[in-house]
Amino acid sequence: MIFACGHGRHANRLVQLGYNVTGVDITQGFLEIAKNNAKKKGITVKYIQKDMREISFKEEFDRAILLFTSFGYFDDEENFKVLENVARSLKSGGLFCFDTFNRDVFLKHFLPYIVVEKGDDLMIDRNTFDSATGRVYNKRIVIRNGKKKDKPFFVRLYNPTEMKDLLNKAGLQIYKMYSNWDAKPFTSDSRRMIIIAKKEIGKKMSNWPPEHQHTTPQPPTQTPKSKHQNPKTLQPTASSPKIRPICGTQPSSNSWSLTCPIFGA
Ligand SMILES: C[S@@+](CC[C@H](N)C(=O)[O-])C[C@H]1O[C@@H](n2cnc3c(N)ncnc32)[C@H](O)[C@@H]1O
Repeated sequence: MIFACGHGRHANRLVQLGYNVTGVDITQGFLEIAKNNAKKKGITVKYIQKDMREISFKEEFDRAILLFTSFGYFDDEENFKVLENVARSLKSGGLFCFDTFNRDVFLKHFLPYIVVEKGDDLMIDRNTFDSATGRVYNKRIVIRNGKKKDKPFFVRLYNPTEMKDLLNKAGLQIYKMYSNWDAKPFTSDSRRMIIIAKKEIGKKMSNWPPEHQHTTPQPPTQTPKSKHQNPKTLQPTASSPKIRPICGTQPSSNSWSLTCPIFGA
């Protein structure tokens, strides 16, 4: 089951790999693209136009996915509803994979402006964070073929602790957690959370994270440059963050280049 499947890039690929896939999205236009691509590939995918807050499948799926920062589009109650719907749609023992920002680290490296260039086209993100709602608001502008379109959106950001509690409340428990798609283990410094949660009916929710995933703060390793320097005044060096697109719709193609007017290229 793919929640918010968009134009079907994951669904179509998974079907080509031999899986039986149902994709749900609210945007009819994306589903049309998904269906056309599936047709061209000669594959059959079940696409349904539906709001993920209103999905009512019950114990039908072995796996559920919700990818590319597609969680957190609603108010807190409705975001939770999405997780409940995911949990209900899974069979016992089923797995749910989704990816989202790690709020703790997102805020440490908050970028108010991000510009992504592709040829002559531009995507300009203007971000503000509202700590009352936990949402990052993006007044996105896309300039494509010389035409400007406003595409504002917000995403609710969660920290790992909140996310664990929310999943548990929905009947899911964190099974694995990574910081990127190369399966790099999650640490407190990870910008993203790639979470695999498991539906385990009747089982007590386990603690998270497993011991090896704890990151213990280390004392600064910097040594004084001269004997006149007082070691106590040294600050830990923050490794300079790489500028990356930090919005959910970053392009998958490597052909995009990135500049940030505030923080440099
Ligand atoms: C960032 S895109 C990701 C699409 C897809 N997961 C991917 O990785 O290509 C977010 C998707 O969420 C869908 N979406 C937004 N609100 C939705 C809702 N209430 N119910 C279902 N899908 C929704 C959008 O139509 C869009 O396809």
